[in-house]
Amino acid sequence: MTVIRWLVLGLSCLFLLSGCSFTNGSTAGKTLTVAVEPTFPPFEFQSASGELQGFDIDLMNAIAQSADFQVKYQNMPFAGMIPALQTQTVDAAVAAMTITAERAKIISFSRPYFKSGLAIATRTDNQNITNFDSLKNKIIGVQIGTTGALKAKNLPGSEIRTFNDSPLTLQALINGNVDAVLNDQVVILYGIKSGNLKRLKVVSSLLTEEFYGIPTPKGSPNLNLINQGLATVLKNGTYAQIYQKWFGIQPPQLPEKSPIENQIPEKGVSELFISLNIILKSLPVLLGGALVTLELTALSVLLGIVGGSLIGIVRLSPALPLRFCAGAADCSRKLSLV
Ligand code: ARG
Repeated sequence: MTVIRWLVLGLSCLFLLSGCSFTNGSTAGKTLTVAVEPTFPPFEFQSASGELQGFDIDLMNAIAQSADFQVKYQNMPFAGMIPALQTQTVDAAVAAMTITAERAKIISFSRPYFKSGLAIATRTDNQNITNFDSLKNKIIGVQIGTTGALKAKNLPGSEIRTFNDSPLTLQALINGNVDAVLNDQVVILYGIKSGNLKRLKVVSSLLTEEFYGIPTPKGSPNLNLINQGLATVLKNGTYAQIYQKWFGIQPPQLPEKSPIENQIPEKGVSELFISLNIILKSLPVLLGGALVTLELTALSVLLGIVGGSLIGIVRLSPALPLRFCAGAADCSRKLSLV
């Protein structure tokens, strides 16, 4: 009996120790997997040598530094990011992602980190496209899953062509395969300015006012960490420095909350369903854990029986030292009872 108790105790300690090393992983110094689609300059793109760079990358690195976590970037298409966040394949994303009410129902967003808006790009020689209404009955290019793609749906009679990334969309415009592109204004302007997008212009003023946020899965404990880091870099001047580096001007004032957040119900039935969903999704992992516990229990019982029998036999031994050793186990049992 004593041996079984010691074995169970020993195994429990081992269990606790391994548990500790897991929890250590979720406190300071942990690594977050962050989705990125590096085809969206100046927010995220790759240098000729393949190095990740851009406003979002600098900002994310600064946030990680001030909130004491590491970042592992994972490339994926923009349209794959929200599903990846929902299934918790990634911990966050930096993708110039606009905070929208629709998205905020299924993922969480950090406080806004960039003020943006949609604009129309067309060829310099196109005189017909002058505003949003003039896009009717035209061929519009958009990147799949973006706010630009959503906006284009409001255009009756126009043909929408979707592309996997933003450069493909703008290339289609240069080639004459689409009449206009709906995209984030800064991205079009940056492309034109850096000389990559020849014969293109931006028409009219901003069509929308949008704010970018860093998305995480719903209920993620990392959201707090990211918000803390973001608040620090906004306060200590690092944010302004990064903004200056990429846009050459001082950043505008940012609201603490995105205006759309007022329209999102904080808690309620939808929240309950989301929680249930998370529990259901975690069920296989939880059941797997229960199975391991059962296996360990069975193993400890088996080891206890074998070990206990051995000690019992040794206690009957004629050799005194052996009897003494086997008796020590019993003695400690009595001590533990005092
Ligand atoms: N801001 C837009 C949106 O959230 C476009 C973002 C596209 N980002 C990217 N990395 N391609 O829909």
